[in-house]
Parts: sequence; structure tokens; C-alpha cells
Amino acid sequence: MNLLEVKNVFKTYGSLKAVSGVSIEVGDGEVFGLLGPNGAGKSTLISMISTLVKPDNGEIFINGNRVGRNTKEAKKVIGLVPQEIALYPTLSARENLNFWGRMYGLGGNLLTQRVDEALEVAGLSDRQKDRIESFSGGMKRRINIAAALLHKPKILIMDEPTVGIDPQSRNHILETVLKLNKEGMSVIYTSHYMEEVEFLCSRIAIMDHGKVIACGSKEELRNLIGDVDIINLDIANADKQIEDLIKPISGIQKVIFDNNKLKVYAKESGTILARLISVLDSAKCKIHNINIEDTNLESVFLHLTGRALRD
Ligand SMILES: Nc1ncnc2c1ncn2[C@@H]1O[C@H](COP(=O)(O)OP(=O)(O)O)[C@@H](O)[C@H]1O
Ligand SMILES: [Mg+2]
Repeated sequence: MNLLEVKNVFKTYGSLKAVSGVSIEVGDGEVFGLLGPNGAGKSTLISMISTLVKPDNGEIFINGNRVGRNTKEAKKVIGLVPQEIALYPTLSARENLNFWGRMYGLGGNLLTQRVDEALEVAGLSDRQKDRIESFSGGMKRRINIAAALLHKPKILIMDEPTVGIDPQSRNHILETVLKLNKEGMSVIYTSHYMEEVEFLCSRIAIMDHGKVIACGSKEELRNLIGDVDIINLDIANADKQIEDLIKPISGIQKVIFDNNKLKVYAKESGTILARLISVLDSAKCKIHNINIEDTNLESVFLHLTGRALRD
């Protein structure tokens, strides 16, 4: 049996189907990505896996333990880094970790040792005596991750761990995920940032409107759409209306203009490039830069839903 098995799980809030028939499997040593726009149902799914929310229907097995039956055993192997920071602002970093450690049943020398290790992982040993309220958002997030590691879980579940934090902490968190995984920990990494999921994850489930709309390795997901490229142009003298001028060009699937950047999704980008440039030229747009990206998870999402991930 896989470390995590989610079988046809549902959760509705009133008439809203937050999670609607999701099945996923995560194996030992995997970094599994859960990618989807805001509102897709990622946090609801995570809450059910973490045993905080009871599914209306379906089954979840963690390390062979069925959630709802052997919940206590299941809980022992998971570490949750929730979307919201769960720390006491007036306590120091170490005091917060001590608190969480005791919640996991740790004490004495073992607790001290685990807190030391967790502070090390967070890269914040030197700030351990400072109050959380003096920390940046990114540092708080790193302590939140440290708290989830104290009981040495087999599987770490992270819910949007890099939203709204500084680039330095973001990089630290991404590196931490890779390091923990190298040491044998499985990770479920939830995000609406395609680049992070693409960078970290060996397999990815793409969620939208409560459903998994695609699941597989990066390669398998890219193969879903064939040969669509993304042409990125930096242009001046343009406004949103430029989208309507470009859309009719044959072979173009989608155009997004934002902040002097034009993103064009097209089959066979080579053949439409000349036409694209001529349309921009006749609209008196100045082109500063052009580059062509390979297909990525963003284009997979667009292909499957007709929307951009961050619409
Ligand atoms: N406790 C709740 N009560 C009512 N609606 C909720 C609750 N939790 C989530 N939802 C709704 O369920 C949908 C999925 O939310 P969520 O799981 O937070 O998505 P994501 O994490 O992908 O952004 C959203 O429309 C959200 O408003
Ligand atoms: Mg969420």
C-alpha cells in the first residue's frame, strides 16, 4: 500500500462542492505537487488528509491507517504546515516549538534535541530567543515548518508555504523541501505557483473546481497538450485591446497582456511569429524583447481549462 491513498473523497459546504471525488496516491520518498488556482479545493483536501476535516464520502489511508478508524496512528506520520501561520506572537521561537513539541507528546532531552534540529532546519538557531512578533513573514513561515518536523513525520504536508514572503525565505523553503526529501521524507507541496511545483515535484495533481483534472509526472502532463509554445514579448505603447488584435491570428490559442508583457500561446510558434510581429508593428507597438518558452504546467492548465492559473 502507498504511504498515502486518497480514494474518491468528497466535501461540500452547503451547495458548494469544495472537493468532488478526488483520488490521489503518494508513494514513499515522493515530492507530490498539488497545483491549482485559488478556490480549487486544495486546502480542503489537505485538511481532510490531515484529519482536521471529515470527508462527506470516500476513504483516506495514511501509512496503512484508515483516517476515521485509526486516526491517531495516521496522525503520527503526518506533519502539517497549514496555510495560516499558527504561532504565538509574544513567545520566542524556541518557546513556540517547545509548545508544539509537547502537543506531539515530546518532552525532556528529546524535545530539546528535536527543537534544536528544527531550528537548524529553519536556519533560525541564532534567533531562537527572539519573540515571533519580531520575525518577518518568511521567518514565521520557517518556524511553522520547523514545528511540523518535531515528531519526525514520514510525510510533510505544506499548504502554500511561500505565499506573501520574501525571496530569501522562499528560496530557503524550497531548498529545505529538497533537503528533507533527500533524507527520505515524502512531501505534499500545495501551491498555485506553477514554477515551484515544476521545480520541486516528481508527480503533480492539477486541481480545479474541486476535482483533479490531470495527474502525472511533468513529462506526462506536458504530453497532454502536444506542441504548444508560449511566446513572451516585452512591448511598449500597448494596452489591453492588443489582445483582440492578436487573438484572430490563426494558430494562436490564447493571449494575455499585462503590464507591458504579452504572453501568446500558440501551436508552431515559428510560423506565426512573423504575422505576430507585423500585427504589433501596424498597431505601433514597440517590441523590446521576445523569447519562446517550452510548454510548462501553466500551459497544461490553460489547455485543460481554457483559463490561466492566475486569472
Ligand atoms: N469552511 C468552509 N466553509 C465554506 N466554504 C468553504 C470552507 N472552506 C473552503 N470553502 C470553499 O471551498 C472552496 C475551496 O476552498 P479551498 O479548499 O480553500 O481552496 P484552495 O485551497 O485551493 O484555494 C472555496 O470556494 C472556498 O470558499
Ligand atoms: Mg488554500
